[in-house]
Amino acid sequence: MKVVPFQRLTCPLDQQPLGAEPARWVCAGGHSFDIAGSGYTHLLPVQHKRSRDPGDSKAMVAARRRFLGAGHYRPVAEAVQRAVLAGTEDGAELACLDAGCGEGYYLRELAAADADATLHLLGLDISKWAVQAAARQDACATWVVASNARIPAQSASLDRILCLFGFPVYAEFSRVLKPGGLLIKVDAGAGHLRELRELIYAREKSTAAREAALPPHFACLGEERVQYALPLEGSDNLADLLAMTPHYHRASVEAREALSQRASLTVSVDVRVATYRAIGGGRPGAMPQSAEGG
Ligand SMILES: C[S@@+](CC[C@H](N)C(=O)[O-])C[C@H]1O[C@@H](n2cnc3c(N)ncnc32)[C@H](O)[C@@H]1O
Ligand SMILES: [Zn+2]
Repeated sequence: MKVVPFQRLTCPLDQQPLGAEPARWVCAGGHSFDIAGSGYTHLLPVQHKRSRDPGDSKAMVAARRRFLGAGHYRPVAEAVQRAVLAGTEDGAELACLDAGCGEGYYLRELAAADADATLHLLGLDISKWAVQAAARQDACATWVVASNARIPAQSASLDRILCLFGFPVYAEFSRVLKPGGLLIKVDAGAGHLRELRELIYAREKSTAAREAALPPHFACLGEERVQYALPLEGSDNLADLLAMTPHYHRASVEAREALSQRASLTVSVDVRVATYRAIGGGRPGAMPQSAEGG
């Protein structure tokens, strides 16, 4: 795979195109955004933030980096690669955004895939810690701190959007997708991490991951279900898995303590990798308040 950092960014203050200079991005309106030493750009103005330090914390990002780096979700990354490249011809050129990229695992895996294609990569996350970790690990993409609610990319500039265990904003996704562009969405299936949930919610065994609702104004073109048993050895691995899911915040102190006593646990991985095409224009959509974490 040949990869090039995505260039068609827009200014978060006046939506004019941003031009790349050696250490910053500038718009014709005179706004300028420095590229940090680690290689990412902060494009989330303070007036667009709902909290001082939005998104995943530094500790959650570190847990996800260790867990994904161990290869536990590689079959999911491979399914994402298949979905991105499905139906493309040799030599295809695709602009691809990971919307809520976390610490960048899935874009790095995509960049490393064995395929005859050129990808223009953009990784975006609302967590500064996530984007900083992504930029430090690889310069394969343009890495920006921003929100899915206001994607700093030109309208109709993207062929693929990945939203992996994320927070989709469908109207914004339709705006930045080219006609015929695809949304690839990964969500937890009903059995995902069932054993972990059963340990945490001992008295609510019926707590099943919600099946994701069909996105408005997108038509589903197909879905691959990735299911396997994942044996995890050692309390560190289990603690990392818990820390990167929303279950961490919902788990009681006792439940976390019980998990930390376990030396091993085999969990079910059950995820849906679905591909959607935008049909007509998007409509203003509400942000979901939570998503099942990876
Ligand atoms: C469950 S994590 C998944 C991260 C990554 N996609 C993965 O699977 O490794 C959800 C991510 O969405 C980010 N996030 C939350 N709200 C967001 C928003 N409004 N716009 C962009 N990213 C957001 C969080 O900071 C976090 O990194
Ligand atoms: Zn500007």
